[in-house]
Amino acid sequence: MCGIIGYVGDSQAGPFLVKALKNLEYRGYDSAGIATLTGGKLCVGKDVGKLDHVRDKHHLDELPGQIGIGHVRWATHGDVTPANAHPHFDCKREIAVVHNGIIENYQELRSWLEANHLFVSQTDTEVIPHLIEEHMDAGCSLEEAVLKATRQLKGSYAILAVSVKEPDKIVASRRDSPLVVGVNAGKNYIASDALAFLEQTNRVAFVEDGETVVLTKDVVFLDSEGQRVQREFKEVDWKSDEATLQGYEFFMMKEIMEEPHAIRCATMQDKRLLLEMAIGILRSRQVVITACGTSRYAALVGRYLFSKLGGKFCDVIMASEFQYFSDSIDKNTLVIAVSQSGETADVIQGVKKARENGATIYSLVNTVGSSLSRMSDRVLYLNCGPEIGVAATKTFVSQLAIFYLLAFTMANKLDEGLQKLHDICPKIEKGFSKNSKKIRGLAQQTRERNDFYYIARGINFAIAAEGALKMKEISYVHAEGMPAGELKHGTLALVDEGTPVVVICPRDYTYDETIANAHETKARGAFVIGVSEEINPIFDDWIEIPQVEEIFQPMVTVVPLQLLAYYSAVVRDRDPDKPRNLAKSVTVK
Ligand code: F6R
Repeated sequence: MCGIIGYVGDSQAGPFLVKALKNLEYRGYDSAGIATLTGGKLCVGKDVGKLDHVRDKHHLDELPGQIGIGHVRWATHGDVTPANAHPHFDCKREIAVVHNGIIENYQELRSWLEANHLFVSQTDTEVIPHLIEEHMDAGCSLEEAVLKATRQLKGSYAILAVSVKEPDKIVASRRDSPLVVGVNAGKNYIASDALAFLEQTNRVAFVEDGETVVLTKDVVFLDSEGQRVQREFKEVDWKSDEATLQGYEFFMMKEIMEEPHAIRCATMQDKRLLLEMAIGILRSRQVVITACGTSRYAALVGRYLFSKLGGKFCDVIMASEFQYFSDSIDKNTLVIAVSQSGETADVIQGVKKARENGATIYSLVNTVGSSLSRMSDRVLYLNCGPEIGVAATKTFVSQLAIFYLLAFTMANKLDEGLQKLHDICPKIEKGFSKNSKKIRGLAQQTRERNDFYYIARGINFAIAAEGALKMKEISYVHAEGMPAGELKHGTLALVDEGTPVVVICPRDYTYDETIANAHETKARGAFVIGVSEEINPIFDDWIEIPQVEEIFQPMVTVVPLQLLAYYSAVVRDRDPDKPRNLAKSVTVK
């Protein structure tokens, strides 16, 4: 939620900042803005709309100066207006600040500041430059002022501040929102995500909670008391070209096509670590998996696998509700947190609470060095490279792959699990060529329909829910996924002539009952789309899936549903990579 970037170096900041913001656009695209420092003044361009539009309108590439900060916004406080676009300023327009997070006590601070300060936006952020101004006017340096100002803030923040009075520096600080520093021969970078500057450097250090960083031609880390701390820079092995379209129209399609490769990469795990974690799961008195959105649906499949292969029951609690169960989380609890970004605020909050209660934390994360990975006792990385499309696709199948590995290890059959996962990959690849055209046609055919239902039983129930989530988030179509048996307990009332009902019914022991539920919808006029290995007369249309063992079905049933959502978005002229109102990294609660 919101992306921030800062640069201090010896070349023009504007073009780099624009490029970096492009790589951060997945975090927000309500507005964009840049401030650079040169000749004792701030040069600013900011406005509503996607980055390309703001760049062209305000000539962001041409802003002079070799130091600057930038922002892409996902609105929380205040409408999407030019005034609410970042950066925000103090009264004299000498200090500029960009911010990711939410300042919970901003109203209180604003009421206090308003006696002497002029506010021009509705944002929570704007209190920050005014607080810094107060402290600088009282004689503090920029870093002292940032340290003092951040002590007055409640909530979450990653901020970057510049001042014309100290024109060679950016001061950054964070609490509960990510920040990472990159260095390369006197050019220094700081951003919400290393993806912003991977083309320039892969030598990074993650900023810890409560730390402040002073970037000049040097980088200095300060703890919350303002004392210097030594930090080591490490190389991350992500490649910058992973974040480019490489000929695809949208990242979402590119990332779906990468799924077989992603599964193979996810299987590259340390076997000893898998064994240690599998034993940890089996021995724990209670195991709770927590996650949000798509990651939670992966967790629901994982729960099924743990039970089926490992004989271990565990619960899945959505992260935003997890804190309300903290009374029963203790040192005998193992929490498995699943988050591709590793920054989702609800997950982080739940895990923090569980840690305080003494629980052990395992996590499944894609982003190396993310907050979640750093607060976990054991981490399994998805290894699938950056996912740029807001809708999770390749990270979902990678999460599934890791759940398979853990579950097969619990059953002492890791090698068998690895082999089976590898065998699935060509089947998924074949499905692309076989189904893409057909699914595009189906999206066209259902283009006018605004309610979709997805039903399945057993291990595929989570896939019905995931298919519906994909459809609604990128196509803006109402969609619900549910266990097929639940339909008649209410939702069936909504099915009428032509309502698309996607019936996920592989030929397993759930088949007959699911088909019976499909008949119930058909009797009310539904347009039944079957997702199965074989055609059934009840289907109005059929998406063929390959024959796989029951426990592996989610891997092959989810892919056509991702494609259906993608094509439905495209035929409705939606941008599947940047759905309205959403962002990839949900760092607010
Ligand atoms: C849907 C989607 C979201 C995320 C959710 C959790 O396509 O991407 O539902 O799955 O916001 O995100 P992570 O996995 O980063 O915690």
